[in-house]
Amino acid sequence: MSYTVSQLLTQDIAFQPIEIKGWVRTFRANRFIALNDGSTLHNIQCVVDFENTDENTLKRITTGAAVHIKGELVESQGKGQKVEIQVTSIAILGDSDPDEYPIQPKKHTFEFLRENAHLRTRTNTFSAVMRLRSSLSFAIHKYFNENEFYYMHTPIVTGSDAEGAGEMFRVSALDPKNPPLDDDGNINYKEDFFGKETNLTVSGQLEAETYAMSLGKVYTFGPTFRAENSNTSRHLAEFWMIEPEVAFMDLAGNMDLAEDFMKSVLSYVLEHNQDDLEFLEKRLLDEEKTKPQAERSEMSLIEKIKFVVDNNFKRVSYTEAIEILRNCKPNKKKKFNYIIEEWGADLQSEHERFLVEKHFKCPVILFDYPANIKAFYMRLNEDGKTVRAMDILFPGIGEMVGGSQREERLDVLKEKMKALDIPEEELWWYLDLRKYGTAVHSGFGLGFERLVMFATGMGNIRDVIPYPRTPQNAEF
Ligand code: 4AD
Ligand code: MG
Repeated sequence: MSYTVSQLLTQDIAFQPIEIKGWVRTFRANRFIALNDGSTLHNIQCVVDFENTDENTLKRITTGAAVHIKGELVESQGKGQKVEIQVTSIAILGDSDPDEYPIQPKKHTFEFLRENAHLRTRTNTFSAVMRLRSSLSFAIHKYFNENEFYYMHTPIVTGSDAEGAGEMFRVSALDPKNPPLDDDGNINYKEDFFGKETNLTVSGQLEAETYAMSLGKVYTFGPTFRAENSNTSRHLAEFWMIEPEVAFMDLAGNMDLAEDFMKSVLSYVLEHNQDDLEFLEKRLLDEEKTKPQAERSEMSLIEKIKFVVDNNFKRVSYTEAIEILRNCKPNKKKKFNYIIEEWGADLQSEHERFLVEKHFKCPVILFDYPANIKAFYMRLNEDGKTVRAMDILFPGIGEMVGGSQREERLDVLKEKMKALDIPEEELWWYLDLRKYGTAVHSGFGLGFERLVMFATGMGNIRDVIPYPRTPQNAEF
């Protein structure tokens, strides 16, 4: 029978003939193979009978090689593992030149591993991160499925640029060297593939709203694209976003949903990814030891996740937050790059981080932002100057979620669009929702990679997505 390492380490199958395929992590003393197949963080030790194995085969057992092992699972004689495989036969499936193989059994920098992203999941850190990423994705679908949401696929190529969430990537099939021109000398997109200008989507929200207003509770979970030149550890040009949208739900319900949802998916990984989390926790501790005391986190990785799961998020209005920021030390001592002077200021990540990391020391939901710093579709409050927006801020990450109650009143929405020069023709279908059976509805978007960063303790968003797309980088 063929098994995975994970099965061999957790199931009671000793003393039966077994088979296993995997990659050699290390081979020492011409006898002990540490074999990994990706099914778990752990390797299984395979003991080769070197006297009865031909020399050429022994030479080909090198770090990185793929092998097919037959043998018997026995209690281990050595320390460090309960069981091991007594190898009866070994076949080399794929050789790996030990001098050239980039993933040596030693510590590599994350920068080096990013350049070798096609092989970096052969390391403990990246295999743990990517197993957690997979597990979180599953937990997300599970949560929505159990709560009667429908999973909906929104288009990736979009003809509307109305969302205003960020700069877009153009999608075109025109010959860039010789595009058709109109009478004014501008590129004539009527002759392009779709007969109009199209872009990669920045969000599936507007389309998700259309389905919420018929199916009730829906969510999207797909790739989104932003052509901003943001070279930070928290921005990608291509990232995955989860966007639930719910009919008849107001902003308070939206906050409840976001909080319950995040707690649920984080509990799932606490329960199901213990080994990987413990490994990443140790990694983070080692990393933090290299930092000055003041920058070290007070909690370990697992403690941080448990803290989020077990405590209520603090809900604070934008107006209250501005008061706190205006009077805080770093503002008064001009330590912030952007000094908060008055109500209406947009919050920068330094302010968000001060609120969550220094002031409240827990996840914070900021709500009721000034209308003019938020998107056109957000529900205007009765005060006429704030909108029912919410951002969820996380320690170490900053903004994790952005969402709102949506403007459901046709006249107010039209006025808002007019003020912002958003043509009604472009969003006729979006306005139709307000014409035919409009209702209060809300939703939010959660940046999946930021959630993975939080759950893994990784400090750079490039290290939580298989092939990061960032300015000047689209390798692989
Ligand atoms: O706040 P944002 O721009 O909100 C929207 O796009 C809304 N349409 C969502 C909705 O209401 N349905 O983006 C939502 C989240 C952010 O809070 C952040 O976590 C993440 O998406 N995000 C990014 N993640 C990685 N790289 C980027 N460049 C990101 N931009 C936003
Ligand atoms: Mg936002």
